[in-house]
Amino acid sequence: MKVDILLGLQWGDEGKGKVVDYLAPKYDMVARFQGGPNAGHTLEFDGIKHVLHQIPSGIFRSDIKNLIGNGVVLDPVILKREIEALEKYKVNTKANLYISKKAQVILPTHRMLDAASEQAKGEGKIGSTLKGIGPTYSDKIARQGLRVGDLLADNFRKKYDELTDKHRTLLGFYNYPTGLAEAEATFFEAVEFLKQFNIIDSEYLINEVVESNQRVLAEGAQGSLLDIDFGSYPFVTSSNTMAAGACTGLGVAPGNIGEVFGIFKAYCTRVGSGPFPTELNDETGERMRREGNEFGATTGRSRRCGWLDLPALKYAIMINGATQLFMMKADVLNIFEEIKVCTHYKLPDGTLTDRLPFDIDIKLEPVYKSMKGWHQSLKGMQEFDQLPEELLTYVKFLEQEVKVPINIVSIGPDRTETIIRGELVEKL
Ligand code: GDP
Ligand code: IMO
Ligand code: MG
Repeated sequence: MKVDILLGLQWGDEGKGKVVDYLAPKYDMVARFQGGPNAGHTLEFDGIKHVLHQIPSGIFRSDIKNLIGNGVVLDPVILKREIEALEKYKVNTKANLYISKKAQVILPTHRMLDAASEQAKGEGKIGSTLKGIGPTYSDKIARQGLRVGDLLADNFRKKYDELTDKHRTLLGFYNYPTGLAEAEATFFEAVEFLKQFNIIDSEYLINEVVESNQRVLAEGAQGSLLDIDFGSYPFVTSSNTMAAGACTGLGVAPGNIGEVFGIFKAYCTRVGSGPFPTELNDETGERMRREGNEFGATTGRSRRCGWLDLPALKYAIMINGATQLFMMKADVLNIFEEIKVCTHYKLPDGTLTDRLPFDIDIKLEPVYKSMKGWHQSLKGMQEFDQLPEELLTYVKFLEQEVKVPINIVSIGPDRTETIIRGELVEKL
């Protein structure tokens, strides 16, 4: 069977973890293909909230393989902590977790370089999660990174020392203190711990799964507007978060990709710096943040909030070839009597456009369409047709604009608060 991809269409935190966990029983494998511990994917069921950073969100379903693919950057220290935290829930990570030998390893010095680089940028900082993502991908592209497979080799320590010597020089350039002893001890302990797990040539495993007619769901991290090529560069992450990233990040041919599930919030949020045309720096934005509990799952930072941005959403749908859409957090808009959607941007010269400009410094003024809110609780609703008329009108308006069906409407953080449309069930 083909590999389906689920990815975020905005600036991350769309609710990917929730939906992957929800859909996982329909799959035999869930695979992460890019990013690393900068991700924070939240799952809620049986009254418990779990946040996963590196482990795929299928891990709570006992008979599903969970793969950390070659496109990922992996921090052994954070992975050890995550695995240990899952032990009390009787999650069998030894049996169900697979790690690609080709995934890049995040070293303590990568985290330091991330912090040093952000500090040096001052006002112009990216607002990185400080997990060492940028420096680790930089080393990958510079062809000097260390991979998970290297951890198993006898000469690992030598390779580690060679690379970290370079890092120390760089940190010296930043005047960044390099007291490493404690961080290194924790790192090497985590490396030993990791060796008990299934460290494999994952491109073979995933292609065997595909060829044996089993199903794979590729779980994106971050969002399309943080993509290294197509996001608001340089305020982006360092990987291809778009659908194409699943091919390179897993070793799956384009012809083996099936559905592309694009997920978006009924409004927008962004953590970190960078352009956000519909951002609301007012009481409405504050209410959204409070109602949506918009605080980062990885860093705890408060997320910037604003109305849905259609030009950005259309762009993300275009570069991903999204075949189906899932709209998350509809319930957060319950509090508003009026809901706005940005349909175009007004450029400084007064012209209207629905395209994202190359120059991120251009001040875009959003042009809004105003719609009546449903202004009621969605609690307990289970069928699509049961949803309030104004919410259905909102969904239909968006579908008309983007020309892709919205097949899930999520109305709360719990697994059960997921309204699924018939079309999707038939396809899966
Ligand atoms: P991810 O990074 O895309 O997996 O998303 P995060 O987990 O970082 O952020 C999404 C947040 O919204 C989490 O706290 C989820 O529990 C929560 N969430 C997901 N879907 C819904 C929903 O439909 N309604 C509400 N109110 N919260 C949701
Ligand atoms: P999930 O998978 C939201 C943002 C950071 C920063 C920029 C670069 O939970 O949706 P990085 O640490 O990657 O160098 O930071 O990207 N960012 C995210 N924002 N959700 C995420 O992941 C993010 N991962 C990175 O805030 O602006
Ligand atoms: Mg998140």
